[in-house]
Amino acid sequence: MKILVINGVNLGSLGKRSVEHYGVMTLEQLNSMVRAYIIAKGAKAEFFHSNYEGAIVDRIEKVDYDGLVINAGAYSHYSYAIADALESVDVPKVEAHLSDIMAREAFRRKRIFENVVDGAFWGEKEKSYYKAIDAICVLYTENKK
Ligand code: DQA
Repeated sequence: MKILVINGVNLGSLGKRSVEHYGVMTLEQLNSMVRAYIIAKGAKAEFFHSNYEGAIVDRIEKVDYDGLVINAGAYSHYSYAIADALESVDVPKVEAHLSDIMAREAFRRKRIFENVVDGAFWGEKEKSYYKAIDAICVLYTENKK
């Protein structure tokens, strides 16, 4: 089983962004924690980062993975293009956010992917990703039955 973790716009700047919302870790550090978590689950991990909406759509459409964690950054609040790409892919897909998107500015409460993902976790920094991975593993096993 391979889990693809997509980090979108501005997540490459982790470590330089608001410590209150995102903590002090860089994207590399986040990815290495998430990689360890995926490997401990007995799965393979792959990571993709882009600031470009179309590049994220292209990566989603490749479907060379069995489960998908996506933190699209601000695209999560307005990208119908990424939502359409997610809808077209038939694998467990879970959204993750480091910060508590429901407790910040109003625009962050809008979840464009709400109806096309199998779940979403926010507000727990790297733990949001861990919970997304747990959910994917459960769904993957259920789908195999
Ligand atoms: C984010 C939340 C988004 O609102 C924001 O635009 C980001 C990061 C998060 O992980 O908390 O870039 O997705």
